[in-house]
Amino acid sequence: MLTHRSTVLRPQYKSVSKDTGRPTGTAAEFTVVPAERAVALPDGISFDIGASLGVPALTAHRALTVAEDGPRRLRPGALDGAVVLAAGGAGAVGHAVIQLARWAGATVISTVSSPRKAKLATAAGAHHVVNYLEGNPAAAIRAVAPDGVDIIAEVALGANLTLDLAVLRARGTISTYADEGGKPVEVNVLQNMVLNTRLQFLVLYTAGPQARTAAAEDVAAAIRAGALPVGEEHGLPLVRFPLDRTADAHRTVENGTIGKALVDIAP
Ligand SMILES: NC(=O)c1ccc[n+]([C@@H]2O[C@H](COP(=O)([O-])OP(=O)(O)OC[C@H]3O[C@@H](n4cnc5c(N)ncnc54)[C@H](OP(=O)(O)O)[C@@H]3O)[C@@H](O)[C@H]2O)c1
Repeated sequence: MLTHRSTVLRPQYKSVSKDTGRPTGTAAEFTVVPAERAVALPDGISFDIGASLGVPALTAHRALTVAEDGPRRLRPGALDGAVVLAAGGAGAVGHAVIQLARWAGATVISTVSSPRKAKLATAAGAHHVVNYLEGNPAAAIRAVAPDGVDIIAEVALGANLTLDLAVLRARGTISTYADEGGKPVEVNVLQNMVLNTRLQFLVLYTAGPQARTAAAEDVAAAIRAGALPVGEEHGLPLVRFPLDRTADAHRTVENGTIGKALVDIAP
């Protein structure tokens, strides 16, 4: 989303890069982007939402639209009957996965690592929350999804692949958008053959214009429907900084703040 009142900080992609298509970084009132990457913020929608959701929501859209049986587009009813597992649902992308999957009709399960994060994932709309550091998370997920999970939006493939394969249904999809923790991934070929696993890696910048356009359109529709609110009460805390404290905002991000750090460009 194109915003000029507030901008969101990300730890990566902040230098000049052909991959991001941006000639400059963040924390600017005006910027230049390729026309196909400029998306109007729907009327009446706050810049906080625009700044918070651009990358996470488009990433979540891609994670939810790469399964063998579809859907390729998200709208209410598109994921009716499906079970989605949002790994790390208190993270920015995980939060958007929960919200978009709920809007599209899925039953949503989220893993978290603490009671505070459980509260956030629930506030985002997760039907079930499982602490992946306690007890037997696979059994807890199977207890609410006995036939298995259709789509897993995965933030830490190396750490979670064993858990994912224990709860994935046959022909299910693991959509991998990050490798938090950096644990190496060891793939058991036979186990995945038997499951007909779809292991999909994804990053926005090379997803192709068709996928990005579809994501922007569907996310805009979800925003207009009020399905992607932000703020602590909706599962995504916002931490604000004025422009002259941009360095503090960066430090907050680097220190692993929960939610989004927003820089207010104009008072
Ligand atoms: N592929 C793409 O296009 C794309 C787009 C956007 C972001 N990303 C990447 O995605 C990652 C997350 O971004 P974000 O903005 O959502 O970050 P974030 O807000 O910091 O959230 C990261 C989340 O990951 C969770 N996590 C870490 N290890 C986990 C594990 N083993 N199991 C379950 N959850 C785990 C954390 O929860 P706990 O602390 O509770 O574990 C945290 O809630 C980053 O690495 C980012 O670079 C990729």
